[in-house]
Amino acid sequence: MEINEMKKIFAETFGEGGELRVFTSPGRVNLIGEHVDYCGGPVMPAALTMKTTVIARKRDDRRLRLKATDLDIFVDADLDKLEDFKGKLKWGDYQLGVALELQKDGYDLCGADLLFDDTVPHGGGLSSSAAIEVSTALCLSVFADEKAGRKSEPDMIKLALIGQRAEHNFIGVNCGIMDQFASAMGKKDHAIFLDCATLDFEHVPLNLGDCRLVLTNTNVKHSLGNSKYNERRSECEAGLEALKKAMPDIKQLADVSPEDFEKHKMLIENETVRRRIKHVVNECARVHESVKAMKENNLELFGQLMNASHDSLQYDYEVTCEELDFLSAEARKMDGVLGSRMTGAGFGGCTVSIIKDSAVDSYIKNVGALYKEKFGIEASFYISDVGDGGMEISC
Ligand code: GLA
Repeated sequence: MEINEMKKIFAETFGEGGELRVFTSPGRVNLIGEHVDYCGGPVMPAALTMKTTVIARKRDDRRLRLKATDLDIFVDADLDKLEDFKGKLKWGDYQLGVALELQKDGYDLCGADLLFDDTVPHGGGLSSSAAIEVSTALCLSVFADEKAGRKSEPDMIKLALIGQRAEHNFIGVNCGIMDQFASAMGKKDHAIFLDCATLDFEHVPLNLGDCRLVLTNTNVKHSLGNSKYNERRSECEAGLEALKKAMPDIKQLADVSPEDFEKHKMLIENETVRRRIKHVVNECARVHESVKAMKENNLELFGQLMNASHDSLQYDYEVTCEELDFLSAEARKMDGVLGSRMTGAGFGGCTVSIIKDSAVDSYIKNVGALYKEKFGIEASFYISDVGDGGMEISC
């Protein structure tokens, strides 16, 4: 939605006057490095140009009022009683979770009226939640800094960590740092090569040549997602403990090489857990190979690594679903598709594919038709640009 249109809705909802400020933060696509961030692994996401935009105005009291452009829900919360809302809201919990975590971190927040507009599809595995968290954290922290007379630039990595803590403590999803980091630290036309153990990162130019990044949304979200996500985390912890018997110095699964895994895997008695760890260890290795391939402009190899990543998520980590598997498999049968894999947490959401520009139209037409025929639902396609991370923009 245009900013001017948002301003109109803002005035209708919260009243005229005062100084309006605008903050944005994007969704992300993860190119490779899936389900390894919470194991201290390397990941390679990129920020999208689909984003959350917040129009905000400070208040003199301690009320935080929230509205979205596309929902009929209005949230009116007291900054001192945010815990009361936990688990009770249909919408607004990411924002309140962030406000709570900022206060725990020592920010002296001021009340505010906030209007949200999202272009990241919800439930699409493109981190619409991280986009909301980071844009809210940026807005409220900037207001708090101004209240305290601090003039420093926002610490975007710290705000990403605040967003992650909101997920853990207010939403109940024990997520890694990838999504919030990508939303906060994205850079136009670059992927982020991030070490999730140290938060060291590098912006790697995304040289796609005559190819495009195409996101295909299954438009399904299987309800088991959150509980399976937490289950996978526990399985990883169990696998790590077992491997420590042979390698007492390892702190996280990302410290285990594929060779070490092969040598010691039978220490993991449970066959399912063993497959989970196999995925993590090999996926970490694939990310290192992918960065190298990307820097050498070897997109063919990068595409193959993407396919291998999907297969590993399908058979070993088991976080895909029929719809995602179908899209990835059909994509790979088509000319001009270099690689195709699920992106994000899985159990629905999107695939990301690298496709020759000249083949994109036929990919959309053919895969769209096959998907409709098989599942009776329309897939959505986004030819995706890579954008910048969270920021304040002029109004
Ligand atoms: C979700 C989580 C991330 C990451 C991915 C899987 O998006 O929020 O932290 O674990 O799943 O790679």
